[in-house]
Amino acid sequence: MSNFLEKMQQRYTVKQYKPDVKLSQTVLDELKAILQLSPSSINSQPWKFTFVTDKETKTQLAPFSYHNKQRVLDSSCVVVFQVIKDVAAFEQQIKDHLPEGAVNYYYNMIKPSGDEEISRWLVNQVYIALGVLLSACAQMDIGSTPMEGIEPDKYDGILGDDKYRSLFAVALGVQDENDTNHPDRRPKLRLDREKIFQDI
Ligand SMILES: Cc1cc2nc3c(=O)[nH]c(=O)nc-3n(C[C@H](O)[C@H](O)[C@H](O)COP(=O)(O)O)c2cc1C
Repeated sequence: MSNFLEKMQQRYTVKQYKPDVKLSQTVLDELKAILQLSPSSINSQPWKFTFVTDKETKTQLAPFSYHNKQRVLDSSCVVVFQVIKDVAAFEQQIKDHLPEGAVNYYYNMIKPSGDEEISRWLVNQVYIALGVLLSACAQMDIGSTPMEGIEPDKYDGILGDDKYRSLFAVALGVQDENDTNHPDRRPKLRLDREKIFQDI
């Protein structure tokens, strides 16, 4: 069995963190370097990742995090995943940074579908980075909680970013030994292989 499969079997959504144990800056910097390498359609990279370690800011975010409140408070870091707001600004970014072929793909294949489809496509790219971060955390034995259960508008107000809007967040830290969601206590629930795989 590969080391990565074992890590994926062991990873789980952390529900309870050790509030006093913090991830080092070296670890957070490595996660940033990994996130920067996330793939995206045409290499569009319509994202921003805000790493919140400041206690006061986490305390402000917590009430707007539904059932995730305690995880936001106790985790070592909350990474807020944001998408670029303004389509015109995104188009400028790709013109500045991407080869002509990629820019043409956007104008031929995405842009004609309209604003709603553009927005959906941009958001899809940010979710790819979520998968990358969760996989990296599994590999590095870092506790993580993906959280769509947040109020993005409220997060935006606290982060004070007018160019990007919040989509979801990931809490990071060291899991408490008593975490009830640990796979030893709550075995992983997944659909059967026969239902989700097809070989042709
Ligand atoms: C996009 C996304 C959003 C999620 N939002 C939350 C959340 O707000 N709070 C939470 O405790 N878990 C959240 N989860 C965790 C899922 O419930 C969890 O991944 C799933 O039940 C499988 O369990 P496991 O991650 O422990 O294997 C989210 C997961 C994903 C991928």
